[in-house]
Amino acid sequence: MKIVVTGGAGFIGSHFIRYLLKKYPDCQILNIDRLTYAGNIHNLDDVSSDRRYCFVQEDICHQKEMTTLLRDWDILVNFAAETHVDRSLVNPEAFIRTDVLGVFSLLRSAYQCKLRKFIQISTDEVYGSVSQGRLKETRLLSPSNPYAASKAAADLLALSYWKSYGLPVCIVRSTNNFGPFQHPEKMIPLFITNALLNKKLPVYGEGKQIRQWLFVEDHCGAIDLILQKGENGQVYHVSPERGYRNLTVARKILRLLGKPDSLMEFVKDRAGHDYRYSLNCQKIKALGWKPRHSFNSAFAKTVQWYKENTGWWQPIREGDFQEYYRQQYG
Ligand code: NAD
Ligand code: DAU
Repeated sequence: MKIVVTGGAGFIGSHFIRYLLKKYPDCQILNIDRLTYAGNIHNLDDVSSDRRYCFVQEDICHQKEMTTLLRDWDILVNFAAETHVDRSLVNPEAFIRTDVLGVFSLLRSAYQCKLRKFIQISTDEVYGSVSQGRLKETRLLSPSNPYAASKAAADLLALSYWKSYGLPVCIVRSTNNFGPFQHPEKMIPLFITNALLNKKLPVYGEGKQIRQWLFVEDHCGAIDLILQKGENGQVYHVSPERGYRNLTVARKILRLLGKPDSLMEFVKDRAGHDYRYSLNCQKIKALGWKPRHSFNSAFAKTVQWYKENTGWWQPIREGDFQEYYRQQYG
């Protein structure tokens, strides 16, 4: 299997590369990443000398360069994106550039290079807030923020490349992921690292929003299954059974770290904040997928990982992130 992973130096992409190297002894992997503030090549230090793996620093928006790089490869899984909703509210341009135009560039290159599979990693956010029930893959898209809108646009472009040109595309829409190596601007690592530093946990609004937290390795298993068995032109949901309120997640973190609830601070709500996401994932279950990790044990292991890996997150928090954090929370 010869597979290109774009955005492989980020959170989920780096787990996916490690997953492939472990499962497929004869795979060849090319990781292409621009290394934005969110990309961290150290996420892959443990596999960087593996002869089956190589890395090129490049921007997915550079179509000519991407076409040259994709020649002689079979499969592309695209994780590359601007991914943080709060940043999309202050700098939407970057999201339109990478998440829409970048995907357009990749689709054109993939078509020219006749790839045999193109997997676009999407998100549950494309549907907007879900008042009740669980959404199927056929639900109309109704994104609430520029990040979600840019991902929705990319999904539609990718599906159009299947319908118009026969590019073998699958779309994977998962719920919120958690696990090691997630950038500390996202809620779970932000709350864990703040708690470890005895700083306040900024809970937006009343903290009642509900998210279906998926352990990142379960997401990787699902993407691999879709790679093997997914039908071209189809969208697949990936999610665990139940959701948790943000407040519950914050309390769990404080309990696991032996910190008081008084560390929580209710702050101004996010603009356009989606109240609840909830996906029906019968379609991928019919292919044989189910999550292998229970929320509680994967969550406890994740908290422990951040506790033991201060050397990974401290440099990130001390870099550009400090300015971002100051602007965000004062
Ligand atoms: P991340 O922010 O940790 O990583 C994104 C990676 O993309 C980084 O390595 C970054 O350097 C790279 N990148 C950004 N712009 C690029 C460009 N123009 N060219 C090349 N590389 C570029 O993101 P993540 O949380 O790992 O998310 C990966 C994908 O999964 C995204 O497409 C996201 O929309 C989707 N997703 C994420 C979650 C989640 O909870 N994290 C849930 C569902 C879907
Ligand atoms: O749902 C999938 C999406 O999950 C992905 O597509 C995105 O790339 C990823 O960033 C994530 O988006 P969210 O906005 O759901 O994740 P975030 O960790 O930013 O926020 C989770 C919830 O926590 C959300 O309801 C907002 C809230 N929150 C977040 C932050 C950063 C807080 O209450 N306080 C915070 O400081």
